[in-house]
Amino acid sequence: MADGSVTDAEFEQAGLRLTVDGAVATITLARPERRNALTFSTWRVLARIGDTLPDDVRVVVVRGEGPAFSAGIDLRLFTAEGVPGEDALGPRDEEFIHGLQAGYLWLRRPGIVSIAAVQGHAIGGGFQLALSCDLRVVADDVKFAMKEPALGIVPDLSGTKPLVDIVGVPRALELCLTTRTVFAEEAARLGLAELVVPVDELGKAVDDLVAAILAIRPSTAAATKRLLRAAPDNTLEEQAAAERREQVVLLREHADEQR
Ligand code: ACO
Repeated sequence: MADGSVTDAEFEQAGLRLTVDGAVATITLARPERRNALTFSTWRVLARIGDTLPDDVRVVVVRGEGPAFSAGIDLRLFTAEGVPGEDALGPRDEEFIHGLQAGYLWLRRPGIVSIAAVQGHAIGGGFQLALSCDLRVVADDVKFAMKEPALGIVPDLSGTKPLVDIVGVPRALELCLTTRTVFAEEAARLGLAELVVPVDELGKAVDDLVAAILAIRPSTAAATKRLLRAAPDNTLEEQAAAERREQVVLLREHADEQR
């Protein structure tokens, strides 16, 4: 399509659905019969959703249909048969991987708040997708696991940075090299979940969080996210300066509105 919009056939191949309702976009992983396994098409279509998202979208919810959020990469890609309609895995260059990472990286941009609604398994690329979101609301049956090292590969969908930012290097190393499962109670304790709720209350909990975020002025929400995302890499003085810069702009905006 000339405007870059994703066609129905491309959504189908990617195992994705997108709904946009005013300021809220919902991306649904929609291949429950394969536990929402991910393919190259999934990551490329996610990137195009990011590129074509309407400017007035302020919250992006990423959810999975069925019992699992996502079982990670479609393991058939590692077989000679592969997945119909998908490239073969084979040896790949960095540019190829960059194209896949683009599917997750946009979820961190300042103009939106992204929320992963996670139930059941979130494995490998599925765990990294949840990590790519700003916030994670999880069901009490959640099972996070970083399985890539067990397949002889590293997590390469931009998940290692948020993982380390949240749990620290030693815990991240332990989780990746044991590939063990993190259940709900530990996920909450480690900061991998902002909220844990019974599985049948996941949708309502996400709706409440979305409503709270939408109650904040768009420019204030964007400035706050920009400020907090920059904080770990700033000194105290640099961060204080960043607060001043953001506040001056917001105060000017308020004054202009009252004129
Ligand atoms: N790729 C392809 N197909 C999958 C995947 C996957 N990652 N995960 C599940 N499926 C398929 C199963 O083969 C099965 O298909 P079938 O009905 O034709 O037999 C169907 O989805 C249902 O899977 P079950 O295993 O029956 O579902 P269950 O709920 O018992 O278990 C679980 C779910 C734990 C997620 C299990 O399917 C599993 O371990 N999957 C593989 C997880 C994995 O190692 N992913 C790779 C991570 S590394 C990365 O992402 C880079």
